[in-house]
Amino acid sequence: METDSDYTDIMQHIERRTGIKPSGVGKPTWVRSIRKRMEACESSNIDAYARLVASSPIERQELVELIVVPETWFFRDSPGLDFFLSQVLEAEKRGRRKPWHVLSLGCATGEEPYSIAMMLAQAGIPLLRFSVEGVDISRRALERARKGVYGSRAFRGSSVLPYRKNFLRTEEGSEVRRDLRQRVAFRSANISDLSFGFSARKYDFVFCRNVLIYFSSDVQDRVLTNVSRLLEHDGYLLLSPTESELVRLKGYPHTGPRLACAHQLHATDSVVPRTIVTTDIEKDIESVEPVQARETETEVQQAPDPLVEAQQLANEGHLDAAWQLCLGCLNSGKNEPALYYLMGALKMAQHSDNEAEEFFRKAVYLSPTHYDALVNLALIAERKGLNEEAYRLWLRARKCSTDDSETEGVVAYGRS
Ligand SMILES: C[S@@+](CC[C@H](N)C(=O)[O-])C[C@H]1O[C@@H](n2cnc3c(N)ncnc32)[C@H](O)[C@@H]1O
Repeated sequence: METDSDYTDIMQHIERRTGIKPSGVGKPTWVRSIRKRMEACESSNIDAYARLVASSPIERQELVELIVVPETWFFRDSPGLDFFLSQVLEAEKRGRRKPWHVLSLGCATGEEPYSIAMMLAQAGIPLLRFSVEGVDISRRALERARKGVYGSRAFRGSSVLPYRKNFLRTEEGSEVRRDLRQRVAFRSANISDLSFGFSARKYDFVFCRNVLIYFSSDVQDRVLTNVSRLLEHDGYLLLSPTESELVRLKGYPHTGPRLACAHQLHATDSVVPRTIVTTDIEKDIESVEPVQARETETEVQQAPDPLVEAQQLANEGHLDAAWQLCLGCLNSGKNEPALYYLMGALKMAQHSDNEAEEFFRKAVYLSPTHYDALVNLALIAERKGLNEEAYRLWLRARKCSTDDSETEGVVAYGRS
């Protein structure tokens, strides 16, 4: 018979990978999902199943599919959508003719990105002047999103009524008009991943509604950092009412009517508490050089640390410029885990796993407990199919993670 800590090990592993905290979806859902997957894998031993989850990306994805909550409907939380449209129309009135780029994070089965596309099209924005992208961790939800055919659960309330003409009735359900479907692209990604948000494209609006609530505060901070990389300088992040309040308490005030739940991350950088904008890399820099940093405080103010500057550039999506600064640091003899880690992250953002691996290894060589470098090395090993190596690295990363002290004695993957 399994004990609570058996489930805890698996939940913590999935939380580290996806950001989804155990309390976000409730323990009964986790237990039910784990049992269902154990049955599907014909596994009656929870230790063996925990090892499978740790070593197999396919099994992890299967489990995640059962845990996520892809609950959504057309024109949900309409004040946010109304605010979005009003901003678009005002800018158009002022003469803006650039294309609009909108991103829906945690888009589930696609109702939100399609609602956005319908609003833009119906407001008279030509189809070729906007694009909408939907991102979700659930591949099953995305399959349904791409299909664009919906049953009655997707239609709740009256906000959808003015948009009825965008659907075609088919035997399977209501199908989104084909020309609109072509303006919406879907892709699968983990928005809490450190490497998420390094994209060549910037977005005017990022919707991330009813997603942050599933994450711990630290993971929310990480997602906000990722989103700030993706947003145009004057772009808006739109949240659900609960999340908007959480984010306001983190130091990002509302922009526009409160009910719209809109926030501008860049415009409010100055009021963001340091803990919010401090990335793991910056924390690493601080922990490596605390004494030196104090001694040279005046100098640091006059000439900013190029490594911190490189991190900021990377956060803003200027990857080439960040890379050049890193090279400069390297040439001037800097030999720090934070530098190698950032270089690895930049290479990872370009999908150059081999080069990224080299830098992460250097970071770990200098700082053997560098959690993020270890996690990224594990991910790379996994992608290369080196499951044993990945498993070993995950174990190491797990030992280094701060909350291990709380779970002492519950070493998950070392049990046989
Ligand atoms: C409740 S739905 C929200 C749908 C839509 N945004 C809305 O407000 O109606 C939450 C979605 O977030 C997705 N999700 C959870 N964690 C995620 C992650 N780390 N990366 C990407 N998507 C994630 C889930 O798969 C799920 O489809």
